[in-house]
Amino acid sequence: MGDPVNGKKMFMKMCAACHTTEKGGKHKIGPNLHGIIGKTSGSMSTPGFNYTETMKEKAVVWNEKTLSDYLELPKKYIPGTKMAFLGLKKAEDRSDIIAFLSTLK
Ligand code: HEC
Repeated sequence: MGDPVNGKKMFMKMCAACHTTEKGGKHKIGPNLHGIIGKTSGSMSTPGFNYTETMKEKAVVWNEKTLSDYLELPKKYIPGTKMAFLGLKKAEDRSDIIAFLSTLK
């Protein structure tokens, strides 16, 4: 299990420009990520965000494994995603960020 405190710090630096995390938070360039674990990608459980078709078609359930695969290389896991993020190469960094995302419920 990763370190959510470090994960939060990294999230603030790398993800917060595009994503909010609080319940009912507004969408920025990317969707609000509250309750992301267990949610289906691109699903309407995040109302009001305009996902790409490819994200909806992937319909993957976000858990530790699928998030790690996505965050490693977003454009490889979901070709055509509009998330402009290169990816997190280090497994430890992904694990920390996912530990933080797991606290958002
Ligand atoms: C430049 C803006 C940007 C950055 C930086 C960014 N994202 Fe995203 N993110 C997006 C967009 C846009 C989407 C929606 C993609 C789509 O519909 O194809 C998205 C989608 C997602 C999703 C899927 C959401 C869902 O509801 O299914 C997750 C999870 C996610 N991002 C996590 C992260 C994390 C963690 C980081 C930091 C490591 C990050 N993102 C960095 C813009 C960004």
